[in-house]
Amino acid sequence: PSIRLADYKPPAFLIDHVDMTVRLDGPCTQAKATYHVRPNPSLVHANGHGQLVLDADALGPVDVRVNGAQIEPQQDRKHVAFTLSTREGSKVEVATTLDPASNTALSGLYLTNGVYCTQCEAEGFRRIVPFLDRPDVLATYTVTLEAQQAACPVLLSNGNPSPIEALDDGWHSITWHDPHPKPSYLFALVGGHLDQVRDSFTTRDGREVALSIYVEPGKAERATFAMQALKRCMAWDEERFGRLYDLDVFNIVAVSDFNLGAMENKGLNIFNDKYILASPTTATDEDYQRIDAIIAHEYFHNWSGNRVTCRDWFQLCLKEGLTVFRDQEYTSDIYDRTIKRITDVRDLWAHQFPEDGGPLAHAVRPDSYREINNFYTATVYEKGAEIVRMIASWLGPQRFRAAMDRYFSTYDGQAVRLEDFLSAMKAEAGDLGAWPDFLGWYTQAGTPQVSVDWQADTHAGTAHLAFSQSTSPTPGQPDKKPLPVPCRLALVDEAGDDLAISPDHVVVQGGRLVGDQFLLDSAHGSLQFTDLPSGTVRPSLFRDYSAPVNHMVEGLDDSDRLFLAAKDSNTFSSWAHLQSLYSDALQRRYHRLTLGEPLGDDHALFEAMIAAGLCCEIDHDTDQAGRAATITLPSAHDLARTIGRNIDPLHVEEARISFSRDLCADRGTSVVEALERFELEDSGDIAPEAAAKRSLVLALLQHLSRCETPDVDDLLGRALRGAGGMTMRIKTLALLLQRRSPLADQALEAFDAEFHDDPLTMDKWFAIQAMNGTADTLVALEGHRSYDRENPNRVRSLLGAFATGNLSGFHAADGSGYQLMAERIGTLDGRNPQLAARLASAFRTWRTMDAARQTFAQAALETLQSMPNISTDLSDIVTRMLEPE
Ligand code: ARG
Ligand code: ZN
Repeated sequence: PSIRLADYKPPAFLIDHVDMTVRLDGPCTQAKATYHVRPNPSLVHANGHGQLVLDADALGPVDVRVNGAQIEPQQDRKHVAFTLSTREGSKVEVATTLDPASNTALSGLYLTNGVYCTQCEAEGFRRIVPFLDRPDVLATYTVTLEAQQAACPVLLSNGNPSPIEALDDGWHSITWHDPHPKPSYLFALVGGHLDQVRDSFTTRDGREVALSIYVEPGKAERATFAMQALKRCMAWDEERFGRLYDLDVFNIVAVSDFNLGAMENKGLNIFNDKYILASPTTATDEDYQRIDAIIAHEYFHNWSGNRVTCRDWFQLCLKEGLTVFRDQEYTSDIYDRTIKRITDVRDLWAHQFPEDGGPLAHAVRPDSYREINNFYTATVYEKGAEIVRMIASWLGPQRFRAAMDRYFSTYDGQAVRLEDFLSAMKAEAGDLGAWPDFLGWYTQAGTPQVSVDWQADTHAGTAHLAFSQSTSPTPGQPDKKPLPVPCRLALVDEAGDDLAISPDHVVVQGGRLVGDQFLLDSAHGSLQFTDLPSGTVRPSLFRDYSAPVNHMVEGLDDSDRLFLAAKDSNTFSSWAHLQSLYSDALQRRYHRLTLGEPLGDDHALFEAMIAAGLCCEIDHDTDQAGRAATITLPSAHDLARTIGRNIDPLHVEEARISFSRDLCADRGTSVVEALERFELEDSGDIAPEAAAKRSLVLALLQHLSRCETPDVDDLLGRALRGAGGMTMRIKTLALLLQRRSPLADQALEAFDAEFHDDPLTMDKWFAIQAMNGTADTLVALEGHRSYDRENPNRVRSLLGAFATGNLSGFHAADGSGYQLMAERIGTLDGRNPQLAARLASAFRTWRTMDAARQTFAQAALETLQSMPNISTDLSDIVTRMLEPE
């Protein structure tokens, strides 16, 4: 039974206000709610009465009163229904009894380490009380919480609080009022023993906002970075998007059991504590950046998601793609724009492209779903952000800002669709000409393939760029149409400078040239340049990765690409040119490994790598992070994707390993010399410059760690001993482990001894072993004292890291990786279907593997599919994966 966008109907009734009382009392927890209901005035109501069908899930018997009189509703597993007047408003009261401790699905009201908390997106509110649990029903909320003072000194909900009141018998209560109408998925409450970090922020319009971050007792010190990040992103959203905060308090709570990253509940963001807690001795540079980005993401939802929300869940990307775009921009402004772009594009290639090219491919705005929780995907989030980026760059900064202002002011307080977002964008397009079909990007699944052919005639002073695009069929979408593909480009002269291109000297077909963007809007298009200056000219295409397409360029040989890698003034593109050379070299190695041929010689590429990554003055350079990105190879996932079919994961890994090994054999002395200049002494300072230096040292060590010479162990050992913080410590430990170095065992033991009662830190210890071991390694680690099969972070650090970060382990030739994962997923499904479904999606590349592996994967998936009590979440994923191609 799937839900279709085409079947959308507005609700027959609206609920304007919710009065709620929740008494937190262990297995006797009670929720009572009063709804101020009225017939939807935009519909015609014929008989003077109609059915109010409330959503419900996993609720016991529900007590219902209408205008004070108890009634017998019709109730099934998913609904509570009864008749209501359509002539006037009604007061509907519902009451339920809940046991938060037994709610292991972590959706609705649950208990985590003794703390009551909620997760209502997408459909968790109906697991607390029956409701019109859909995002187009917006209500104001007044929420009273009651609990024993000793068990729950802290009681939080959305909005602004009134003073806490003492009740009899050691109980107390507090009332929260949220004046902003919101959908039920943004409801939240928290009750428990929590420590608090406080600060304040004054908005540009003079509102003094009390900020708090609540954490489990004893962890407040680890939340200070998060608080700084919160203040930083609040100021940034005022400055960059003119968005001001709109309540007197803003609370964040970090909890230790959470299905995803974090949740933007109005005024009360709830976080997986992994994305709040950090200290230099326990968190890596990446952890700090991710914390910063996720705090910003959830905070930015206050406007993109909460003030302007989604009409239905098909529009999920309206808030997620836009908010990811906003958090990416924030990170770009606070850290380094090029590095951020490189990181995001690498992630897109490694995660979204395989999704878009496999059995789980879906449009950024899907038109049907069985389980909405399975659509919180790289496609909706990351590809969604790429679409907003194309629109922003099409409009340019001023017009885009005006369009965003228009979007927020036009739709404030409403639940809208992507069409509404696009109409606000279009309204500010001014003289840009016909509005491109950006909606097509939301509705069509699959990654467009763009082939570009470059031909230049130096003597005639002419050049020709021919583009063509096509998209392969995806499940349910056999026929694809051309999309508007913006290609930001330049022609680069012999000195590496961009040529000024006058529109008079270009003939454009199949698209439009606006500024430096060629908008290809047909299956084929071309640019014919004339009157070019003498000398060699080369094209720099898709600058800053201007469209989320897979592009291939004909007519540029290796030396052209090496030239552009060294000279392109667009730093992203110079990175991308070198990446395309690495990618070709790795694919070549892969195919030779498969054929048992010698691997050949990449000397010229090694030279270029050393020149780009290591030449002169690196120890005083300000762009060490850029150098690190330059010498980092495409990920194994990305390599597997570019190879395409019939994959042997061992050869994928060996292709990358052999490349590094040969690089060191060829240019190892330069690498070691460069490292020696850094002295391998790490301050552990979390400042960006120190982090950049670490990233370069680690990129070098990564290559060196593939050498067979034993002195590499010494070098890694020194780097490990010199580690001043967690980044160097865990990364060098991972490299030692990967080398099967005897030093690794000692270092793992020391780590365990130091951190065994710090679960979040132990997650890193589990993850590096899961990424470098086999199914047997996992089984052994599951018995470790710090492991907990019931905690999602632990499970992800072990099973998740194995399935997504260990190509040869998960895809082991004997099927052991698949089998173990399927067993664990099957067990987990009974407790936590969302987590089980998410882990199962790691199987999505199964058909790209060689025949023997496919047989094992299919058997594992079929075992899951035939489980008698399989959840909708898991069944949806497994069924889609088994669908014949
Ligand atoms: N809206 C959250 C975020 O992206 C994600 C929460 C999704 N939760 C879920 N169970 N589907 O910030
Ligand atoms: Zn989000």
